[in-house]
Amino acid sequence: MSKHGTITNDNHAALWHGRFKEGPDADAVKFETSINDDMRMAFVDIDGSIAHAKMLCKTGLISEDEKNQIIDGLNSIKDDLQADKLKVDLSAEDIHSFVEATLTDRIGEAGKKVHTGRSRNDQIALDEKLYLRSQIKDLQKEVLNLISVLTNIATENKDVLIPGFTHMQHAQPVTLAHHVCAWAWMFSRDFTRLGDAAKRADLSPIGSCALAGSGLPLDRAYEAELLGFGGVTDNSLDSVSDRDYYLEVASDLSILQMHLSRACEEIVLWSTTEFSFIDLSEKWSTGSSIMPQKKNPDFAELIRGKTGRVYGDMVALFTMMKGLPLAYDRDMQEDKSSFFEAYDTVISSVRIFAEMVRTAKWNKDIMTKSCDGGYLNATDIADYLVRKGLPFRTAHGVSAGLVRIAIEKNCLLEELDFAEYEKASPLFEKDIFELITPAKCVEIRKTIGGPAPSEVQKQIDKLMKFIKDNDIKE
Ligand code: ARG
Repeated sequence: MSKHGTITNDNHAALWHGRFKEGPDADAVKFETSINDDMRMAFVDIDGSIAHAKMLCKTGLISEDEKNQIIDGLNSIKDDLQADKLKVDLSAEDIHSFVEATLTDRIGEAGKKVHTGRSRNDQIALDEKLYLRSQIKDLQKEVLNLISVLTNIATENKDVLIPGFTHMQHAQPVTLAHHVCAWAWMFSRDFTRLGDAAKRADLSPIGSCALAGSGLPLDRAYEAELLGFGGVTDNSLDSVSDRDYYLEVASDLSILQMHLSRACEEIVLWSTTEFSFIDLSEKWSTGSSIMPQKKNPDFAELIRGKTGRVYGDMVALFTMMKGLPLAYDRDMQEDKSSFFEAYDTVISSVRIFAEMVRTAKWNKDIMTKSCDGGYLNATDIADYLVRKGLPFRTAHGVSAGLVRIAIEKNCLLEELDFAEYEKASPLFEKDIFELITPAKCVEIRKTIGGPAPSEVQKQIDKLMKFIKDNDIKE
């Protein structure tokens, strides 16, 4: 017996107490409850029970009067929870027990019929899928807002040159718009990925009962339709033991958070004195308790840091599921704390990231100036020769030779005398100097998806169409 004593059958509300002579240990109750996690699903649990009562009535398992009593009772619970007149009883085993017990308290005998042809095993899967539906919608809204914030930044910065990097070394010039659009496309995939997961989760498990369906004449299709599902699941064992919807969305969340984290890494870097590409708003920065001059990019760092937590939750879910035999196992109760933590972390990170970049100041002159270093135009010198018929590998060598000379002379490629170019290849003409300015190097890159402002405009138009086409209506 624990130091908290035992709970007797007289005063504990477990739905299953009839079979037991003794009540559970108080510590056991605390250990097994899921109410702290599933109380946030109270409203969908009630919606599910309302649909269930309608189905039971349609099939003749309860009377019209009983159905009405149940629905009125459930609605009164919903109203009272909403108005804060009723508190979820945190000593209940789970939200299903709490709602059923409260209903029976309020309406008496009819309340005892609501669980006809139902188990908490199919009920929890139903609640999770219903709640996930709104969670996905809410997150998609935030992601769409972020894409729109990024698209606006791109629209304003189509001509702002910025070095493009590979291996964190200067590579070729691009524009701020192009870089920010790259982020936007990453988030557009997150948006559609979430939508794909929602489609697969759109099958109702209710009516699968504990594991083996029911001998009662349940109308699963009708109940699914009432709850707005596209259809019903095909196998009762699978229905109550499937948590793919959480695994899938947790994977989507991990990818989304990884995208945020990568962009945050760039923001942290760009905020350094050495880069100074970006000035975060004071609203989205913090200071130091000892160094008076500091303005730190803590929010970008926190988003980057929380990525570990999101991955951890995803791995916890996968690990929890990996050895489970069919059908329901109580291990699966652990799904909610991991999934909700990942979800809450990601949705707040998306919101904060959007505000952080929306309110930031982009130091355009510094970005442009930075394109002067690092021989970003060396490929363009090679391409110049390719246009005149030289094989690319030979042209690469000629350009590399000029880079070597420029390094020795400590100057830019465009600052070398024309004589050096002539010496390197007879194909060079004086127009080479106009054609290798960073602006020209960008302007000329008109391949689909390239950084030329005309091409970036097409990306922006496409992103705007994406935002419009996917506008989430209530
Ligand atoms: N609290 C449980 C969960 O979250 C609900 C299902 C419980 N079923 C059971 N037979 N104990 O998974």
